[in-house]
Amino acid sequence: MKGIILHGGHGTRLRPLTHTGPKQLLPIANKPMSQYALEDLKTAGITEIGIIIGDVYPEKVKEYYGDGSEFGVNITYIYQDAPKGISHAIKLCKDFIGNDKFIVYLGDNVLRKNLVDYTKKFETSDSDAMILLCEVDEPQRFGVAELDSNNPGKIKTIIEKPKEPPSNLAVIGIYFLTPKIFDIIDNLKPSWRGELEITDALFSLMSQGNKIDYDAVTGWWKDTGTPEDIIHANKLVLDSVGTENQFLIDSDDTINDKVVTGKNTTISRDSHIQGPVIIGKNCHIGPSVRIGPYVSVGDNSNLKDCTVENSIIMKDCTVNAKIHLSNSIISHGSTIEHSDGTHELLLGERSKIKL
Ligand code: G1P
Repeated sequence: MKGIILHGGHGTRLRPLTHTGPKQLLPIANKPMSQYALEDLKTAGITEIGIIIGDVYPEKVKEYYGDGSEFGVNITYIYQDAPKGISHAIKLCKDFIGNDKFIVYLGDNVLRKNLVDYTKKFETSDSDAMILLCEVDEPQRFGVAELDSNNPGKIKTIIEKPKEPPSNLAVIGIYFLTPKIFDIIDNLKPSWRGELEITDALFSLMSQGNKIDYDAVTGWWKDTGTPEDIIHANKLVLDSVGTENQFLIDSDDTINDKVVTGKNTTISRDSHIQGPVIIGKNCHIGPSVRIGPYVSVGDNSNLKDCTVENSIIMKDCTVNAKIHLSNSIISHGSTIEHSDGTHELLLGERSKIKL
């Protein structure tokens, strides 16, 4: 089997964070979110991986993943000139896929459970596609599947972001497919949002008498469209620190009381870290810092005098002020410093700040 990771799109709801890179490279627990997808594919035994890159800093994706050898996989980059939909992206992979079965993984989806069992199930089945379903509170935000009450195990319909959802079962962004999908996509028409939808392709595949299986997501699944989603995903991933299946970190990190600390990081005695927390390499924490719970601090960041909870501070940041940060995302290379009464701000386009 082969794998495809979708790494394009404009990430408009995540601006300003996506002004300087694709959203799938934003870190969750100090790891680009698309790396969870790549590692899930690798754990499921898939090492031939195509990454679809778009027009938002595609060179940053190539720079990070290279030819894949550092991650134990073989990567082929496939360029999508504009965000024309998931089915459009899949169509671009026809030559890369050849006659193999394959998995399409949206690079902004993060899943708690790995894909090993699902992949075995699909590999050994005669199904033409398999989708994963997850109960959600706001099904109108997603592709939705309705099960056939007269035919147990069968799907009745699949529809993209319905205003009146027929169920609360979201179709998550991990699709198990065969090359049959390519002919179906050739006959698709763009949706109201101008995209070739994956849900339309799946529904059409099904309507033509092909077999589509489904399975339920166990554990959590997160689609990270908004800053709130990213902070929530960070919390969910950090909750796995110290558990059997935890999928965080480098081999030279240490873990104590649900606190992961990278090499050469120092924490002053008067600082207090309440896990789950991850702090990268070469960081200086203290004096008088309180961190946690649910905080990720990237490599080479220095924190003094501050309190931080439920937040992401990326690499190369400095926070040197008596402030309490909560539900915040601070991008790479940012500085927050103390001033006497007045605030001096140099904020990028569409920044958000609450004082
Ligand atoms: C896409 C799919 C949708 C799916 C979702 C999962 O939505 O079109 O069917 O439920 O991913 O993340 P989009 O992210 O394009 O809004």
